[in-house]
Amino acid sequence: MDFDGTDHVRESVAMCKQLKSQGVATVCATPHFYPWNEDVDAFLARRDKALAVLQAEECPVEIIPGAEVQIFQALPECRVDKMCIGESNVVLFEMPRLPFQTWMITSIENAVYKYALTPVIAHIERYGFTAEQLRKFAHIPNVVFQITVSELNHKRSLKMLDMVSSCGVPVVLGSDAHNMTSRAPQFDVIGEKTAEKAGLFNRQLKATQTIIENCLYAQLILENKIRTPMKTEVQQQ
Ligand SMILES: [Fe+2]
Repeated sequence: MDFDGTDHVRESVAMCKQLKSQGVATVCATPHFYPWNEDVDAFLARRDKALAVLQAEECPVEIIPGAEVQIFQALPECRVDKMCIGESNVVLFEMPRLPFQTWMITSIENAVYKYALTPVIAHIERYGFTAEQLRKFAHIPNVVFQITVSELNHKRSLKMLDMVSSCGVPVVLGSDAHNMTSRAPQFDVIGEKTAEKAGLFNRQLKATQTIIENCLYAQLILENKIRTPMKTEVQQQ
């Protein structure tokens, strides 16, 4: 359903299979929501249709629908709460391709206050934010940062990932998977990096492994928010 997504449901199924082989059991599917393209209800109707097509196939992972909401100045006026992941209050936000501006923070904050959201900032390493700007994002209530798993492969990204990880908020890993070619699922990076021995002098690998460990811990926190225990599970405890 995205202009930069798969061309056919076969490719979407292939992505799910690849993710499964990389140790992923559940996928939060977050198609792009651009407010200038359509309204929230039209987007959700299109998403439901696409999800039904995918779920009619042999899909080896659980799929929880969500959205990647592009922020804009009037964000709080739109029903952001309808685009949370599953039944949770967790919503994924993407920044516009613009230099940092204060309204980016205030529009997210106002939406968070209005709808009691847990905002996740998608691929926060990508925007070239300074440490000071990152700190402003870190002050948004309940905020969670997301970094792209494939960036762990790049030495050039380590400084930024380290900066993001030092902001005092949970950081989780995202696939940024769009297709099976140029932007295929790369969650196997986690296994590869954690299996590699961090030698005494390999500071880069040690730093990468620490970032992964912190992310996996934060992932559990976020998963608990997305997947609230069912009543029967609560009774058994
Ligand atoms: Fe994105």
